[in-house]
Amino acid sequence: MRFVLALYFFMALTFSAVVRADVAAGQSTYAARGCIGCHGANGVSVVANYPSLKGQNADYVRKNLTDFRSGARKNPVMNAMAAGLKDEEINNLAQYIDSLK
Ligand code: HEC
Repeated sequence: MRFVLALYFFMALTFSAVVRADVAAGQSTYAARGCIGCHGANGVSVVANYPSLKGQNADYVRKNLTDFRSGARKNPVMNAMAAGLKDEEINNLAQYIDSLK
């Protein structure tokens, strides 16, 4: 029993460390890819036409970025922004945006 608990604890620690690394990588990608220019620092947009991203959860962001990339969701600006994103970058961005609560 103690072993199982220790294992569980270790897995939880490892998992949270992985998520933290994704959040940091996502934050750099968010700045480097220019997302910050439209969606604002910390995901709070100051331009009416651009939605704030703060408060969106990771699954929603992941799905919509993937849909923008494939063209399943159409918006000329976001289709272009998502075109070059790798799966890993989408995942990191999703974790970063999810962390903005
Ligand atoms: C030139 C401005 C611009 C840039 C740069 C930009 N976006 Fe967007 N983004 C938009 C607009 C406009 C929409 C709304 C699209 C629509 O109406 O369907 C949007 C929508 C989104 C959505 C969906 C939001 C929702 O509520 O459904 C996500 C997620 C998103 N952008 C993420 C990003 C990420 C990540 C980046 C950087 C890789 C980025 N955007 C760069 C303008 C921009």
